[in-house]
Amino acid sequence: MFGTGVGERDAFALLDRFVDRGGVWIDTADCYSFWADSSGLGGQSERLIGRWLRARPGMRDRVKISTKLGAQPAAPGSWPEHRAGLSASAIHKAFDGSRMRLGVENVDLLWIHQEDRAASLEETVSALGELTVAGVVARVGASNHPAWRVESARTLQASLGFSEFDALQHSTSYLLPRPGTLPPGVVHRFGPLSDEHRDLAVERGMEVWAYSPLLSGAYDNPDKSVPDVYDQPGNVARLRILGDVASEIGVTRGQVVLAWLLANGVHPILGGSKLYQLDAALEAATLRLPADALRRLNSVDRTPWSDPYNKITSETGGRSSAMGTLSE
Ligand SMILES: NC(=O)c1ccc[n+]([C@@H]2O[C@H](COP(=O)([O-])OP(=O)(O)OC[C@H]3O[C@@H](n4cnc5c(N)ncnc54)[C@H](OP(=O)(O)O)[C@@H]3O)[C@@H](O)[C@H]2O)c1
Repeated sequence: MFGTGVGERDAFALLDRFVDRGGVWIDTADCYSFWADSSGLGGQSERLIGRWLRARPGMRDRVKISTKLGAQPAAPGSWPEHRAGLSASAIHKAFDGSRMRLGVENVDLLWIHQEDRAASLEETVSALGELTVAGVVARVGASNHPAWRVESARTLQASLGFSEFDALQHSTSYLLPRPGTLPPGVVHRFGPLSDEHRDLAVERGMEVWAYSPLLSGAYDNPDKSVPDVYDQPGNVARLRILGDVASEIGVTRGQVVLAWLLANGVHPILGGSKLYQLDAALEAATLRLPADALRRLNSVDRTPWSDPYNKITSETGGRSSAMGTLSE
């Protein structure tokens, strides 16, 4: 929400604190935050990050920039039906716009933000490949895509000699949405992290980045409630265990969620408008949950987080992957 919901002074303070405390990756998108701006188009977040980078000489070398393309409304008010999409011309136009707003030569990770089945996968991966070959994009990732399309794209990328997608970005948290529902703000059919996404990531050594890990603050902010889509029996047990673990360790429920994601090899993406929120999240990043707490947190139902991965890991004596393993 930088540049819209979060003003320049607060955003600069958050970014400064983040890097002062060792933060490296900054995630944005060309469409942030079209829904919060009177123009109906995004770009405010990238522009603000660009101004911050210019105001902090040498900062570009200290941070890594991740941005996304494809989900910018084709015209104000037209999202989600009409978006910039993932054709070759849309990719090049969007990427040029992001570089200009950010004021950077290159981007460390470029995501395709949302599916575009009107563009062929070959056209999309070729356009991305031109950017990686030119050296202006270091890595490519896929957000909100079904696992099978990512794997098909990776096969094409390999056959064309391009860098393969090596990261997935999905909505995920400790509570799981009821089957057949989508969390608020997730309009993408394949937005929530699924068993298949996680399996793909484990098998191919891809990173998983988690968006909306704190359910917009509902774990800890008494003024926010857990959205209805999380109303299901398994989550009653999850909330009980989460509350128990948080009070035993003396941290907040949100901190346990972040530490739990990290313990499962997942990179949570932080949103926040206040320094205390950022500090709490960064403290959670150094929190090591006791093995018994992890076992209890993972004991409800079968989820993308639980078996069979842990079983495979222990039976084979440890499978190494970019996902890490959850050993007890
Ligand atoms: N790929 C995609 O399609 C996609 C979609 C959505 C988001 N994302 C990425 O993921 C990032 C995070 O998403 P998100 O903002 O939805 O994440 P989130 O973790 O669900 O929510 C962040 C919000 O939680 C509240 N919060 C944070 N720490 C708190 C604390 N200690 N106590 C109480 N409340 C707290 C804050 O709300 P208040 O500011 O209201 O206090 C903050 O803005 C985004 O910035 C974006 O980069 C990607």
